[in-house]
This record gives sequence, C-alpha cells and structure tokens, in this order.
Amino acid sequence: MRMMNREISISYEYFEDYQELNNGEIDLIQKAYAICEKAYAPYSKFKVGTSLLLSNGEVVLGNNQENIASPSGLCAERVALFYANANFDKDLVQTIVVVSNGDLIDDTAIITPCGSCRQVILESEKKQKKSIKIILVARNRSVYVFNSIEDLLPFAFGV
Ligand code: THU
Repeated sequence: MRMMNREISISYEYFEDYQELNNGEIDLIQKAYAICEKAYAPYSKFKVGTSLLLSNGEVVLGNNQENIASPSGLCAERVALFYANANFDKDLVQTIVVVSNGDLIDDTAIITPCGSCRQVILESEKKQKKSIKIILVARNRSVYVFNSIEDLLPFAFGV
C-alpha cells in the first residue's frame, strides 16, 4: 500500500462560563483580565493578558507590548513565559491562561496563541518534560481548555 488517508483528532473541554472552573483557575482568569488592562497596545487597540501558574505556586503575569516598529513588540504569552523562564527557571509551568479585550476578534471567539507563541509554549513543555494546561477565554466568558500545546500545534517543528 503506497498511500493512506490518516486523521488526527483534538480533544478539549468547553465551558459556557468560566465560573464553572475551579477556584484556582477562576483566580488565574481574573488576574489575567487585570493585567490585560495594563497592556501597551496603542496600535492594535487589542489588549491581551496572560497568567501562568508555576509549580512553586507563583503566578506570573504578562500582557502584550507593542512597538511603533511592529515586529519589535511581543505577545502577552511570550512576555509572561520569558519572564518565568528568566526568573523561575527551576519551576515548571503548570497552566497558562489567555484573555483579551478588543474588537479584533468576535465576542464569542476565544483568544488563541499565535503560531510563534505556540512554538515557544512547546519549547517550555519539552524543556520541563511536562505538558501545560492551556485555558483560553472568550469575552462572552466561554472557555476552551486544552491539555497540551501539542493539541494546538500538531506536526510542530522539533517534535
Ligand atoms: N496578541 C497577543 O498578545 N497574544 C495573542 O495570542 C494574539 C495577539 C497581541 C499581538 C498584538 O499586540 C495584538 O495582540 C494584536 O495582534
């Protein structure tokens, strides 16, 4: 046999309202929304907030930081992850939450990490040899929960 049709499937949890999550996760979402408001996004007017829960209990926050020379800016996810890697290199990243505020995406759409951020989250998973729970929230409060970045970046480079 020379050719086969193959399929992959992705499983994730969907919640209509993030209040259905556990208290620790709700707290992470609220912290992500608070840091989201402090984003520096004068060009896109689209604010993104990220909270990370580390294995030592520390919560690391980040938001998007734009620049007039646009490629010089950075997404919220990478701001938070690089800070965690720089300051808590021995601790594992257990959970990453992403929220947004702006008109770039619909109210019903979850904010999802861009391709470059997915590759960076994957590097963290590989480095720590443990998958990271990914909680993505829409402005209508619905949530998608993924068990690993591999579900959002199938056939990734380097895997
Ligand atoms: N952005 C993030 O910070 N994270 C994402 O997951 C998607 C996009 C930022 C980049 C830019 O500052 C703005 O949102 C609009 O693309």
